[in-house]
Amino acid sequence: MCGIVGAIANRDITPVLIDGLKRMEYRGYDSAGLAVLNSERQIARERSTGRVASLESLVKESNLSGNIGIAHTRWATHGKPSVDNAHPHISKGSVSVVHNGIIENHEELRRQQLAKGYKFTSETDSEVIVHQIEFHLKDSDNLCEAVQKTVAELEGAYALGVICRNNPNTLVVTRRGAPLVIGFGKDETFIASDMSALISVVREYCVLEEGDIATVRTGKTTIYNEHGTEVERERLTSSLSSDDAELGDYRYFMEKEIHEQTRSITETLEGRIGKDSILELAFGPEARPILNDTQEIKLVACGTSYHAACVARYWFEEFGFKTDVEVASEFRYRTPVVNPKTLFITISQSGETADTLAALQYAKKLGFAHSLCICNVPESSLVRQSDLAIMTHAGPEIGVASTKAFTTQLVALLMLAIALRSRRCAGDGCDQQQLDLVNELRTLPAKIDDALQNEALIEQVAKQFEDKNHALFLGRGAHYPIAMEGALKLKEISYIHAEAYAAGELKHGPLALVDENMPVVVVAPNDTLLEKLKSNIEEVRARGGRMIVFADPASGLKTDEDEGMTVINIAPVNSYIAPIIYTIPLQLLSFHVALIKGTDVDKPRNLAKSVTVE
Ligand code: G6P
Repeated sequence: MCGIVGAIANRDITPVLIDGLKRMEYRGYDSAGLAVLNSERQIARERSTGRVASLESLVKESNLSGNIGIAHTRWATHGKPSVDNAHPHISKGSVSVVHNGIIENHEELRRQQLAKGYKFTSETDSEVIVHQIEFHLKDSDNLCEAVQKTVAELEGAYALGVICRNNPNTLVVTRRGAPLVIGFGKDETFIASDMSALISVVREYCVLEEGDIATVRTGKTTIYNEHGTEVERERLTSSLSSDDAELGDYRYFMEKEIHEQTRSITETLEGRIGKDSILELAFGPEARPILNDTQEIKLVACGTSYHAACVARYWFEEFGFKTDVEVASEFRYRTPVVNPKTLFITISQSGETADTLAALQYAKKLGFAHSLCICNVPESSLVRQSDLAIMTHAGPEIGVASTKAFTTQLVALLMLAIALRSRRCAGDGCDQQQLDLVNELRTLPAKIDDALQNEALIEQVAKQFEDKNHALFLGRGAHYPIAMEGALKLKEISYIHAEAYAAGELKHGPLALVDENMPVVVVAPNDTLLEKLKSNIEEVRARGGRMIVFADPASGLKTDEDEGMTVINIAPVNSYIAPIIYTIPLQLLSFHVALIKGTDVDKPRNLAKSVTVE
């Protein structure tokens, strides 16, 4: 979604704002803008469509500079991507605002403001905010009070950064339903949607809570809670390193993140597996009673994280736990019957996905016993609002198409499933299968490395997609969601229409689509469903379909160019960890197809990394 950054300092802050926007471009990237109070105490602004680099050129050309300013990178919701719709918005030359979120009652406010004579220059829902603040500043010059009065009239979600000509030493920020952090430097203070925007300037920061409003000054920042009481928010030290957000030798972040999976999975496992068991205390001191109390599992997530939930269902069920999986945007509007002994698990890379957060809040109202999140961002709203959080430790993921976040989510979920299993299957908590599972987890990094070695072969195979517009992905069992994830990756970054099917469903419709123009990608590990899957492969072959099969060498499946069948062997793996390993070739395939198609791999059109609005 959109990203906000702001700064107040005794130096020109435009380079910090531009750097922050670049680091947050993954949140949204159809337009960007920046406003500062310049030396004549006027609000000066530049905005442009496209990437932050275009804005940077404009800022250089116009010599924009100032000691206080706000900036924004946008992902359009209300109003097309255009310069007029780009933030910051300004009212009467006096107030300027950047907004992340959605204002649901903007039409009503717009009507009232038009009647008062305000002129609108954009189609956004956000512009009403700046006019409303300007209106409230008529009563007093106190910017914080004017923002407080304004947000009391807003319905929806917002994180705001506000500057005002008559308050040249104060930046006001507030949030509800969208994230915001304040970073503390020496005599300079910064704000941003997330800490990754600020890593080049500060380490110390605090996270604003729902409804907080803060007056940010160079020396002193004052925070008030939603009731207007002055509060302190815990000062934290960011562990992000600026290397994490640099490309190094790679061309794309997605490429870097695919190759980082050996390391990221090692970090997910670190400190969490003992000699023969999962060290569940490493999940937090409350983990044990919560897991002891769990009878059933409900998994809720969006996008790629939802696919991780779909895989995990197979593990939880096999280990004796009734499990239900649902996308967050649907769950939040249903009236499910709740067994109060159900552990409500959310999965999210960012921890800020609006639907997932709303689902968690809804689950609390519905009476689920406990909540647990699997998340990659420790400071996120989801982590703060869940009873228990298992961090994936994947490091910042910048590419919009999720890769290392997904495999580390799977690793965290498998560890959780094994920990729960010990309560159902293993009596005193240790048996041969548990030992085997724990040992398999240890082998994961090396096996990921093996799977990455197939890249050159996959690059060749990717050429088959050069002139294709559609593809089918097939899998069975826990590899059906892996096929779903493979299809999603291809769609997201190469714009090829791709659909995944449980291979047994092929005969109920998709077989009608199979011909030489429809590549069929098959995930064929050596598991109990392999023989069934082979029959499905024959169904495709008999109809002249072109197949790319990722298979265990023991499957007996062989490349047959005359029959249009390419088989890429994946080193043998245990069936529990196979979904994690078979994800790798599918990621590499979509990446190389996207390179051939010439798309913007890290920033696919119309998508955002973190969707903080409904
Ligand atoms: C967006 C991203 C996806 C991601 C989904 C859920 O759609 O583009 O890559 O899977 O949001 O995000 P989350 O941060 O909750 O995992």
